[in-house]
Amino acid sequence: MTTLGIQRDVPLAPLTTLDLGGPAKYFLRVDDERALTDALGWAAHEGIASAILGGGSNLIVPDEGYDGLVVHMGIASLDFRGDGTVEAGAGVPWESVVDGAVSRDWAGLECLTGIPGSAGATPIQNVGAYGQEVAEVVAKVRVLRRDTLALEELDPADCGFGYRESIFKREPGRFVVVGVRFALRPHGAPTVRYDELQRTLGADATLATVRRTVLDLRRRKSMVIDPHDPNHRSAGSFFLNPVVPDAEAQRVVEQAVRDNVVSAPADVPAYPAANGQVKLAAGWLIEKSGIAKGTRRGAIGVSTRHALALVHHGGGTTSDLLAFADEIRARVYDRFGVHLEREPRVLS
Ligand code: EPU
Repeated sequence: MTTLGIQRDVPLAPLTTLDLGGPAKYFLRVDDERALTDALGWAAHEGIASAILGGGSNLIVPDEGYDGLVVHMGIASLDFRGDGTVEAGAGVPWESVVDGAVSRDWAGLECLTGIPGSAGATPIQNVGAYGQEVAEVVAKVRVLRRDTLALEELDPADCGFGYRESIFKREPGRFVVVGVRFALRPHGAPTVRYDELQRTLGADATLATVRRTVLDLRRRKSMVIDPHDPNHRSAGSFFLNPVVPDAEAQRVVEQAVRDNVVSAPADVPAYPAANGQVKLAAGWLIEKSGIAKGTRRGAIGVSTRHALALVHHGGGTTSDLLAFADEIRARVYDRFGVHLEREPRVLS
């Protein structure tokens, strides 16, 4: 159809960790910036919508698929410089970045291990886990502007980073992330901030032991993709942890005590967040709304190991998934008056 090698009607489900959804009308995998620019230029010229697919681990594909061009990000250059700088192409599997950093004894990513997906996705939702966020070590984000197809490098201050938040997520049509530069700390100390991690680690933690411990914790919650794990078809956390004003958090705590959901206010998981707000634990709210781990609605279920992950057991549809998610959201709202927001993005 074009010299670009664009394919027609390509199934997208196998390219996502949920393994759900329909085909892309047009599809192209790109391995360099030139191919990416040409593909997006072609789509714009033809008046066809376009979207970028990375590792597919935080993406929900509608059952009807995508009526446009899906560009599969394959830019996979990865360069570790002596001073702790890492240049990663957007299509590099994230774990290779973490692996390269920890094996060189460079600090800054050791808690972000076991997370599926690609390096380019990490600044988009400011990937965070076990007390670290990528925003702490992002030095530059290389982007392609969708309006002019010009390449630019953004400073972290221009990325609008917050909890699972960035300018890339807030304004999805504006930039394509093509690469990320990380500034790590050669032989730096590991980050041991997360309670659960602190409790599990011994006194003389190293980057390698922190990484191993995080992997272990994640495995126990089925948050490491393992095809033998019955919870493996998921998009990780399906909802954000709600960040609410202090008064709203107090109301949740009081209600939980009143209803004998907990015996003491301190038993409600709640953490200080930005601007005096409080981060509640969505997994806890879901369970205490009466949706136990392992609850099923046909082919879709709540993970048996973590109430925040929805799992596709095979043979399901995206509409089943979204219907169950709506049911969960309604249950939590009815029980606690707290709105849950979906975390993975719907391809559109
Ligand atoms: N909890 C429950 N029931 C559950 C799960 C959790 O009551 O089924 C409670 C726990 O007891 C704990 C609290 O909720 O008190 C927090 O649980 P956990 O430490 O497992 O972390 P999380 O808040 O559920 C977040 C991230 C994860 C990240 C972990 C560890 C979000 C939306 N999720 O989960 O990220 O790995 O912290 O830092 O912020 C992801 O985004 O896909 C993801 C896996």
